[in-house]
Amino acid sequence: MARKHIEPFVDREVPFKKMTLPGFRKGMHYKMLSIDEDTGACTMTVRFDKGYKLPPGMCYTEYEMIIMKGSIKYGDDVCNAGYYLRVPAGVHMPAMSVPRGAEALLMYNFAEPSFVESDEDHRLAMRDQLTIVDSYEDLQWMPTSGAIYPAVAPGCLLKVLKYDPLTEALSFLYCMTPKFWQDNISYHDCAEEAYHIWGTSWMMQFGDLPTGGYFFRPPWINHGAFRSELGILAFGRTDSKLHNYFHWNPWTSPEENRERAVAQLARTKPDLFNWTISKDGHNHPHDFEHPDWKEKSNYF
Ligand SMILES: [Fe+2]
Repeated sequence: MARKHIEPFVDREVPFKKMTLPGFRKGMHYKMLSIDEDTGACTMTVRFDKGYKLPPGMCYTEYEMIIMKGSIKYGDDVCNAGYYLRVPAGVHMPAMSVPRGAEALLMYNFAEPSFVESDEDHRLAMRDQLTIVDSYEDLQWMPTSGAIYPAVAPGCLLKVLKYDPLTEALSFLYCMTPKFWQDNISYHDCAEEAYHIWGTSWMMQFGDLPTGGYFFRPPWINHGAFRSELGILAFGRTDSKLHNYFHWNPWTSPEENRERAVAQLARTKPDLFNWTISKDGHNHPHDFEHPDWKEKSNYF
């Protein structure tokens, strides 16, 4: 998720464009929220016109989607607003149809959007990672302390939708309850992005983020304090472990925040830190279990 800092952005202020990439059918429209210009990975709001159809097929990269309005049929299965789908690369989906129109948040994770007609999986597809869940009806809210430490203020709740055990990246639905407030400032080592499905929250640095509001925020950027008068419902995700570094100084730069995070690493994992910064020529990270981890990372 190596993308530019975009904050705040409100998609209600821009029109939909026609999706014309090969494979996609007429009747799909998009608003580009953020894009990785090296890989084509992107996050979009999309609208499918009433009557939109797509044959059975697959994508060459993983995508995630949360349906926000209307419903989408895959074969005979109906996915209403609130359905979350994580479709791994090469996993084929049944024929898609949108009898009454729909809007969704759609994320292509490692490469540009693609669609190839197919009624079977690619031979390397990891079908066991396919997730289709009604996130509104079939999952319960939990305190952020269940997934994130240190936790944010108690009026912010989560439903975890995707957890990557290799990177600890998370995708989640989150809400702020009415009159939510948190009076400290946070930053993280990870990039994070979020989209407001409904509601307005206020942040000291970037002001109000209303329904349709979006941000893509690289690591170590101050955000908070927060408040929300009526509450919000939002979708968020990170590209690696979300650790909340809290503090009270609104004037620190991302560089100063990063140095403070490194100092914490040196305190909490001193041997690992010392080895990492040593100049003895042997500190090349190598994972005997996952030798290809560098190729899968955005940061090398
Ligand atoms: Fe954050």
